[in-house]
Amino acid sequence: MKVYVTRTIPDAGLSLLKQEFTVDVFPHDRLPTKPEIIAGVNDADGLLCLLTDPIDKDVITSAPRLRMIATYAVGYDNIDVATATKHGILVSNTPGVLTDATAELAWALLISAARRIPEGDTYCRQGKFTGWAPQLMVGQEITGKTLGIIGAGRIGAAMALKSTGFHMNVLYTDTQPNPTLERELHAKRVPLEELLKQADFISIHVALSPSTHHLIGCQQLQMMKPTAVLVNTSRGPVIDEPALATALKEHWIFSAGLDVYEHEPKIHKDLLTLPNVVLAPHLGSATIDTRSNMARMAAENMIAGLHGQLPPNCVNPEAYRKKP
Ligand code: GLV
Ligand code: GLV
Repeated sequence: MKVYVTRTIPDAGLSLLKQEFTVDVFPHDRLPTKPEIIAGVNDADGLLCLLTDPIDKDVITSAPRLRMIATYAVGYDNIDVATATKHGILVSNTPGVLTDATAELAWALLISAARRIPEGDTYCRQGKFTGWAPQLMVGQEITGKTLGIIGAGRIGAAMALKSTGFHMNVLYTDTQPNPTLERELHAKRVPLEELLKQADFISIHVALSPSTHHLIGCQQLQMMKPTAVLVNTSRGPVIDEPALATALKEHWIFSAGLDVYEHEPKIHKDLLTLPNVVLAPHLGSATIDTRSNMARMAAENMIAGLHGQLPPNCVNPEAYRKKP
């Protein structure tokens, strides 16, 4: 059997795949184009892809032998799962192994945006630091404030649980209650509007879907406190990016920390020049440990799926039950 891998991933995963299958890895150090993915997957039984690959109907239906798609990510909004399911193709992701890494990055952005660290770094490097000053780059204090978590799944809950050292009051919004957060943090589940109005720090952890697209737009940004800090490590299109640029420019909120963008890898031009936004290049899961664990997990899913078993992290088990 042949597995097509759209980009070199850590050896922890590639070596497992190579023990079982013929492995064909996209040979360049750049994103493959859609025609390149189609050419690569053409005679493959398995596809190991990245969150940046558009695995749409064209790609899926161009691969007659395809039985398994293992994405090297937790988010799978780039994959047309409905079409995969229709063709009896299993899809898996890598949940759990990147939870702490992503929650840590959300905290890094929160603290950087609250305490203006990148702005201060630039200032120092430009030789502008001429001495301590009472009002130099004053930011927002975190301890004792209110943290608002939008989406209390694995990553949102981990972000909330890491707040204990800051003694925060935790609010969250989710379609489901999270008993762990309520027990451990006395967190309160509130409607989105209430969270936006009350939270000092807001961190987004929802999956991208039609119901979360532009969940945060002009109206929601206007509900936030002028001292609020907004963090997004989920998916860019959850925020209306031009509206956020306006909110930051006009100081409707204090600052933002972003790891993801609406038209990634493009970033709204105003965000690139505003001092009150911290920009990271989609680094949520980017630790050495996590990337190896993701590679191993994606490979294990692939191996199970192609050997006729239900992959441990299958997102469409109905495709398995449907199999001929
Ligand atoms: C990263 O964004 C992921 O979905 O794994
Ligand atoms: C700050 O450096 C202080 O000593 O207050």
